[in-house]
Amino acid sequence: MNQIPNTFGIQASASQLFSYSSVEELQTLIREQRLTLPILHVGAGSNLLFTKDYEGTVLHSEIRYIRVMEEDVRQVIVAVGAGVCWDDFVAYGVEHGWQGAENLSLIPGEVGSAAVQNIGAYGVEVADLILSVSGVDLRSGELCQWQREACGYAYRYSIFKQPEMKHYAVTEVVFRLSKEVKPSLSYQGLADAVARSGAPCTLQTIRQAVIDLRQSKLPDPELLGNAGSFFTNPVVSQQQAEALRSSYPQMPAFPTADGRVKLSGGWLIEQCGWKGRALGDAAVYEKQALVLVNKGRATGEEIFRLSEEIIRSVKEKFGVTLSREVNVF
Ligand code: EPU
Repeated sequence: MNQIPNTFGIQASASQLFSYSSVEELQTLIREQRLTLPILHVGAGSNLLFTKDYEGTVLHSEIRYIRVMEEDVRQVIVAVGAGVCWDDFVAYGVEHGWQGAENLSLIPGEVGSAAVQNIGAYGVEVADLILSVSGVDLRSGELCQWQREACGYAYRYSIFKQPEMKHYAVTEVVFRLSKEVKPSLSYQGLADAVARSGAPCTLQTIRQAVIDLRQSKLPDPELLGNAGSFFTNPVVSQQQAEALRSSYPQMPAFPTADGRVKLSGGWLIEQCGWKGRALGDAAVYEKQALVLVNKGRATGEEIFRLSEEIIRSVKEKFGVTLSREVNVF
């Protein structure tokens, strides 16, 4: 059976499933028209929830290389195949003394989907490091390239998430990393963890502090099925945030660059009493309410139903609509 990889540990199969390890192999697949529509391109499946089997073709990149393109004393420009495990790339950068990706240590998934999804954590987003993204048009096999400015990056967003961009497969991402150590410690919890460790502030100690923080707050998908944050943190108008703040003075709220306010989805969900609660085997993680988990035999539908209930109660209590970060099929 064509089981689709996914970190929720949900059984779901595709009508067809192909992996390819080079651009040429992907172009051959397209040319020979062996692909049944619709096509879904997946990474490690760390941001997917299947409520049913996928009636179409699932594609997965196994393009795996890390290639230095340019280097000087200050920086390195490095091209990375979309199928490289994201954390392997982070580890490689840290080992080589390249600064930039260490705050994004241990995020599940692969390099291609990291660029699509604009992964972020501890004050850094992958878009900050990207120079360009290359891909293949799945209709024609044509090669395409987008410079960073054309990718439309925003919080957990890029143009590759738009329905009209779904016929592109990302094959390579080019990053610019620094050789000067200028740690990004704007996230207080990370700065505190690095200070507590007593070790000098190096790329390795930051990476280790991030790993420790993640392991203390987030479930390991190998042990407990999950897809990281199930929802994005909602961004609301200043007016709405102020109104909420007057009723809930302790509510966490962070100003965004565009003058709006980002709320904490985890806090809103926790206030509605959901933290640690379960509907069957679908549950809200006990240490982080933004994360939904599969405690064993939950179906995709059960997890989806739980997310519906959560959205409903947050809307009812706070008037805020949560959006799913996870893609549901
Ligand atoms: N909070 C609660 N209860 C909870 C969870 C959070 O009250 O159950 C409140 C706390 O006040 C906390 C604040 O929310 O101080 C922020 O929590 P946290 O630092 O854990 O981060 P987050 O906003 O919940 C985001 C990302 C995570 C990323 C962390 C750290 C999104 C959707 N999620 O979570 O990314 O690791 O920040 O930077 O932006 C992911 O995308 O899968 C993911 C795990």
